[in-house]
Amino acid sequence: MGWGLGLIKYKLMTQLEVDISKLKPFIDDNAIAGLQEELNNAHRQLVGRTGKGNDFLGWVDLPVQLDEALVGRILSDAGKIRQMAEIFVVIGIGGSYLGSRAVVEALGNPFQFLPRESGYPQIVFAGENLSEDYHAHLLELLDRKDYAVAVISKSGTTTEPAIAFRLIRQHIETKYGKEEARKRIFAITDVSRGALKKLADAEGYSSYVIPDDVGGRYSVLTPVGLLPIAAAGFDIRSLLDGAIRMREIALSSATLQQNPCALYAAVRNILYRQGKLVEILVAFEPGLLYMIEWWKQLYGESEGKEHKGIFPAGVTFTSDLHSMGQYIQEGRRTLFETVVSVENPKNKLVVPNDPENLDGLNFLSGKRLTEINHKAELGTMMAHIDGGVPNIRITIPAINEYYLGQLIYFFEFACALSGYTLGVNPFDQPGVEAYKKNMFALLGKPCYEL
Ligand code: PA5
Repeated sequence: MGWGLGLIKYKLMTQLEVDISKLKPFIDDNAIAGLQEELNNAHRQLVGRTGKGNDFLGWVDLPVQLDEALVGRILSDAGKIRQMAEIFVVIGIGGSYLGSRAVVEALGNPFQFLPRESGYPQIVFAGENLSEDYHAHLLELLDRKDYAVAVISKSGTTTEPAIAFRLIRQHIETKYGKEEARKRIFAITDVSRGALKKLADAEGYSSYVIPDDVGGRYSVLTPVGLLPIAAAGFDIRSLLDGAIRMREIALSSATLQQNPCALYAAVRNILYRQGKLVEILVAFEPGLLYMIEWWKQLYGESEGKEHKGIFPAGVTFTSDLHSMGQYIQEGRRTLFETVVSVENPKNKLVVPNDPENLDGLNFLSGKRLTEINHKAELGTMMAHIDGGVPNIRITIPAINEYYLGQLIYFFEFACALSGYTLGVNPFDQPGVEAYKKNMFALLGKPCYEL
């Protein structure tokens, strides 16, 4: 295969790059080539639908199979939401909110506090926790603002969003009256099962279906993610186009030099087998914080089972260099880092010159913040490698819908390959039930006991 140094820089025509050159001190070329056969098998299982959990592979073809009529309906509902609402409340937990939050926060302006300013509603989230204060503050806001709500639950029975929806449904019906409230509620759930489905049918809410064969954490490219993202004013067609491009690449070959998903899955499994038990996803753009949260769910729920799996952690730098940086540099050597690097910002800002130069920063005058941020990224990577932390780098040219679509599909496909390489079913989550049983028993739900 002639890896040589050829494996070092891995450039894709799509412009999403996976760079494993900085793994050199930790992994040799033979180790990577040695994983090719395992990745061939994983790829065969995934594409041939013969692996574990193969009844949950609907996400693989989702970007190309989404019906144009469905996309049109989502865009039309997003338009109605924009007309009627300053706030769009998205109720859901886990895979039912993390994907939309990741995209909305990556693309949005964090200082756009006045929703009407942008012409789009502000997206807020509920039902992803059980905090009384959080939901009380939200209801106070909803007293003052026009709003609409999406209630999202695949099972239609998850406690946290169900409680939040009870609260918000009562609020919206009181505020607008039952009939108008119905027009402001959108339900996204299973085609036939669950309490939410029954309620949506009985009340006549505008409803969307989450396909049976798409699990929660793989559902961002269904209405689960697309409706909130479209309502926030972002281009869902471009998001899907990015995913389609990455899908073509991911499906076409299992060869590590040609398939970045396979390469990423391979190197993280090699590192895991070498005792690197924690992967830290790093971003130098704070807008990617929820992309990290989404990734943590995707990899944590997919791989953490049978007492196996890499623990997915996340940091945003340079902020966390002043907190977690110490541990990463000098703590236990069980870590590796995957940096999501962004080449180009949307805006331009240079460090101003100061004739007095009291802060001694005139050596930076005229430099763009991105140039400084990129040097911080490089310097951090060099320091961490010196400190014994292997580094993988995933670069996207910019944070926009198209490249986020690529990144999402890249991580999903790589996760499935990685899970199969690890030997687990990447599409179930049996461990998520344990806390629920105890909570229900403690709350006295009939038929539950400790
Ligand atoms: O990935 C998953 O399947 C889970 O994290 C779910 O998304 C989460 O538990 C919420 O489930 P539901 O959408 O059924 O309310």
